[in-house]
Amino acid sequence: MAAVKVGVIGCGKISGIYLENGATFDDIEIVACSDLVLERAEEQAKAYGVPKACTPEELLADEEVEIVLNLTVPIVHAEVSLAALEAGKHVYTEKPLAVDLEDGRKMMEVAAERDLRIGSAPDTFLGGGLQTCRKIMDEGIIGEPVAVSAFMLSHGPEDWHPNPDFFFQPGAGPMFDMGPYYLTALTTLMGPVRRVAGSARITFPERMITSEPLAGTTITVKTPTHIAGVMDFESGAVGTLVTTFDVWAESQARIDLYGTEGTLSLPDPNFADGPVRLWRSDTGAWKDVPLTHTYTGNTRGIGLADMAQALRSGRQPRASGELGMHVLEVIHAFLDSSERGEHVSVSSTFERPEPLPARSPEGIFGGGV
Ligand SMILES: NC(=O)c1ccc[n+]([C@@H]2O[C@H](COP(=O)([O-])OP(=O)(O)OC[C@H]3O[C@@H](n4cnc5c(N)ncnc54)[C@H](O)[C@@H]3O)[C@@H](O)[C@H]2O)c1
Repeated sequence: MAAVKVGVIGCGKISGIYLENGATFDDIEIVACSDLVLERAEEQAKAYGVPKACTPEELLADEEVEIVLNLTVPIVHAEVSLAALEAGKHVYTEKPLAVDLEDGRKMMEVAAERDLRIGSAPDTFLGGGLQTCRKIMDEGIIGEPVAVSAFMLSHGPEDWHPNPDFFFQPGAGPMFDMGPYYLTALTTLMGPVRRVAGSARITFPERMITSEPLAGTTITVKTPTHIAGVMDFESGAVGTLVTTFDVWAESQARIDLYGTEGTLSLPDPNFADGPVRLWRSDTGAWKDVPLTHTYTGNTRGIGLADMAQALRSGRQPRASGELGMHVLEVIHAFLDSSERGEHVSVSSTFERPEPLPARSPEGIFGGGV
C-alpha cells in the first residue's frame, strides 16, 4: 500500500525524533517541513532529508500532503489543526489536543463534517510496556479492575528547561503537560471516565529559573501546580491521579492498578518500555513480567504511522482524536471541580483502541486491524 504523505508544521525540539522515526515506518512518508520561522524548517529538512521546506501556508496548499503533523506549541494547536482541517487535511497533533475545551470540540466537529481524521499524542500507550499491561488486563490476570493510583510527582522544569515560563501559565501546569501521558495510559486500559473531583493549589506563587540562559529570572505562577484528582470510570473502578511540580522527593510507585485478583504495577507512561510487575493473590509475591510486545525505545510517531495505516484500511486510528478529546475534558474537569467544589461530569467518550498484536507477520499494527 502506498505510504501516506505527511507534512510537518512546527520544527522545534520535538520534531527531530518524529523526522528520524518517520523514515522507519513504511506507512508514512514525510514530504514537507514548515515553521513560522522558515530557517527552522530548512534546517530540519536538510538534517533529515525531507524534500521540501516551506511556510505553513504553502504546506497547507500542497495537494500532495494528506496528514498535517502538528508539532507547534500547545497554545496554537487548535488554530493550526483547524487551518489544516479547513484545507482538507487529516491532522495528527502533539498533546494536548487543544488547550480550550471549546476549541477541541470545534476540531472534532470540523473533522466530522469533512470526513477527516484526527489523531493525538501521546502514543506511548502503544509501546511494549503498556501493551504488555493491556494484554495482562485483557486476559483477566488481575481480575476485574477495582481502582488505580497514579502519581506524577516532580519539582518542576525550571532547573532544566531553557525557557520554562510557559509551564506556569494557564493551559500548562503539570496536569496539561504530563496529565495526557497518565490519562491516556489509564483510559486505554480501563475505559472512559464518567466524573471527576479535584483539589488544586499554587504552592509557590513565584519561582526562580535556575537553568541557563535565563537563570535568576522570576516566574509568576498563574496556574495550579499541584492537582489531586479522583476519577470514577464508567466501569465502576475508581482512580486517583496526582500531578505536581511542587514536591522535592517521592518514594512510591508511579502507577499501580488494583484488580479483584491482584495488582499490576505499570511503567512510566512517558516512555514506551517497562518495567511491568505483577502480584497475584494465588502466588502472594511480586514478579517481573517480560514484555510481550517488543516495540520499545523512543517510539514517538508510532501513533501517526498507525493513523496512516488506519486511513488506508478504513479503520479508526488507535491514538484517536476522540481519545485526545476525552483526556482534555478530564484535565479540565479536575481544575473545574477544584474551583466549583463539586464533582464534574465528563460528557465525551471514546472506543478503547484495539490492542496491538504481540508479534505479527503483517507488521506492528497487524493485518488491517
Ligand atoms: N520537547 C519535548 O520534550 C516534548 C515532549 C513531548 C511532547 N512535546 C510536545 O511537542 C509540541 C512541541 O514542543 P517543542 O518542545 O518541540 O516546542 P518548541 O517550542 O521547541 O517548537 C515549536 C515550534 O513550533 C513553531 N510554531 C509556533 N507557532 C507556530 C505556528 N502558528 N505555525 C507554525 N509554526 C509554529 C515554533 O516556531 C517552534 O519552532 C508541544 O505540544 C509539546 O507539548 C514536546
